[in-house]
Amino acid sequence: MASASAGSTPTALDPAPTRPARRRHLGPPPAPALRSSAVPLAFHHVAVQCADLDRCERFYREVLGLAVLRRWPRDAGGDRSVWLSVGEGGAFLALERADEAPGPRPWRDGKPGLSYEDVVIAYSGSGKSSRLEAALRGPMSSMLPPEELNKLVTWAQKGADREAYDTDIKRTFDQRCMSCHDGGNPHLSNLGNYDGVKKTTEQDTGTDVFTLVRVSHIHMFGMSFIFFLMGQIFSHAYIRPVWFKSLVVVLPFIAISLDVGSWYFTKLYKPFAAITMLGGGVMALSFTFMGAVSMYQLWFGKTPPAVAQRGAALRGDL
Ligand code: HEC
Repeated sequence: MASASAGSTPTALDPAPTRPARRRHLGPPPAPALRSSAVPLAFHHVAVQCADLDRCERFYREVLGLAVLRRWPRDAGGDRSVWLSVGEGGAFLALERADEAPGPRPWRDGKPGLSYEDVVIAYSGSGKSSRLEAALRGPMSSMLPPEELNKLVTWAQKGADREAYDTDIKRTFDQRCMSCHDGGNPHLSNLGNYDGVKKTTEQDTGTDVFTLVRVSHIHMFGMSFIFFLMGQIFSHAYIRPVWFKSLVVVLPFIAISLDVGSWYFTKLYKPFAAITMLGGGVMALSFTFMGAVSMYQLWFGKTPPAVAQRGAALRGDL
């Protein structure tokens, strides 16, 4: 349906003459570095939800001078989505019509704030809904009309039957989802065939192990590095007893290991979520303590008598 009127769009609408005027109003043209291939940045598309799609499109087309790549008409008339080119390489800006104001952002456990339940759900899953259902009720809800949405959710909840998929369900996916989930983007599920769709209908078992390994790697190295630097600075502070000072330096390293380790263990035994939270708390406390004490002693502290005497003794020795 969508591709029927897609394709070449009236680029004559794109007002080239506004470009020089825009430059005069908005100052110098964008830095060439942004377009240079030397910048190691890449993205496939950015989607923006618009309350007033036509106005939104006019802004990007007329003020910023972006060219329309493709239009996705909707049954009720007008466009459901408009794609605008943002330079070479095929990257585009997808303006999506949002028919309703966004609902309150759903919380993992239904209650605002971080809780033990949230951590359990994040790592071991809610055990209730599938990724597909979560996406359809959340960020993907504007991609299709409510009755089609409910049809997909019911189908997924009833076990994602293959026959129903072939006769009926596939059509909805092809019509509503393939503009983005066609397998072209490695970060999005390919919803073009039964196996791809089926994977998203499996029960939510929390963050998968591959993602956890990737995130653990970043956290372990990044945070250890930060605590190493902070500990280095703090090692010059005057804190007694010495065992306490040493403990404050060492604790965050133990805490990060327990915290990250518990992400995995929460999958096996939920109460490990409490250790993840405790680990985070310990890290925050040590970090704040080391930072505050170091700053205070650097700027306001007087040399403690014990240190002054040590200095005198050293000078005497020389
Ligand atoms: C305009 C592009 C676009 C369309 C159309 C679209 N999606 Fe998505 N989808 C995304 C993006 C971008 C994400 C990842 C960002 C996010 O989670 O908010 C995503 C995430 C998802 C996810 C979770 C991550 C994954 O890939 O498994 C599911 C499931 C999903 N979409 C299903 C659907 C379904 C079903 C449809 C059709 C009814 C659909 N999407 C239509 C862009 C789109």
